[in-house]
Amino acid sequence: MKFFADTAEIDDIRELAATGLLDGVTTNPSLIAKSGRDFMEVTKEICGIVDGPVSAEVVALDHETMMKEAEILRKLADNVCIKVPLTIDGLKTCRALTGDGTMVNVTLCFSANQALLAAKAGATFVSPFVGRHDDNGFDGMELISDIRLIYDNYDFETEILVASVRHVTHVLESARIGADVMTAPPAVIKALFKHVLTDKGIEGFLADWAKTGQSIIR
Ligand code: G3P
Repeated sequence: MKFFADTAEIDDIRELAATGLLDGVTTNPSLIAKSGRDFMEVTKEICGIVDGPVSAEVVALDHETMMKEAEILRKLADNVCIKVPLTIDGLKTCRALTGDGTMVNVTLCFSANQALLAAKAGATFVSPFVGRHDDNGFDGMELISDIRLIYDNYDFETEILVASVRHVTHVLESARIGADVMTAPPAVIKALFKHVLTDKGIEGFLADWAKTGQSIIR
């Protein structure tokens, strides 16, 4: 499963990219607003830090203007992935952009039928929002299972990008189901490394090592 960081914070992206475990980045208008940065400038900077796809979202609601915005965004870098909403105009834009080889992430997906439409429109990625699904009394992970089943039934190549990830259990369940990608806030990705027994184990080993009086680097 690929790991994307769901953020526009450059310091966090640099830190995660340095681990060699970061496969891409997703942004949205809310994350850009939170960063306080210029959209074009920060997107270009992120594209220079990671080799993988960097999702940048259009804000127009009609197909013609979405295409104009996508045209500007895709000139920023080769690894820009245009993010469009799951609407009729969004999917029309998806079809047009993927037709000429541009990566497209169809976002704000809340049903398996919507995911089916995104795949038929040739989306590179579909982004079901599991956290917001849970918030509204639905089962976000059940949605991922349904989409996995449907995509496998028809060998769709669209990658399931689990979004609105709120905690490490969402990540674990995504991997169990066989999602292709998950995008999470940096804090959730960092939490994946942590285990109390790992910390305790290191503490114990270092205490015993100190008793030997030895050093590896001499
Ligand atoms: O990738 C979409 C994500 O940013 C939405 O997350 O936590 O605002 O539902 P959240």
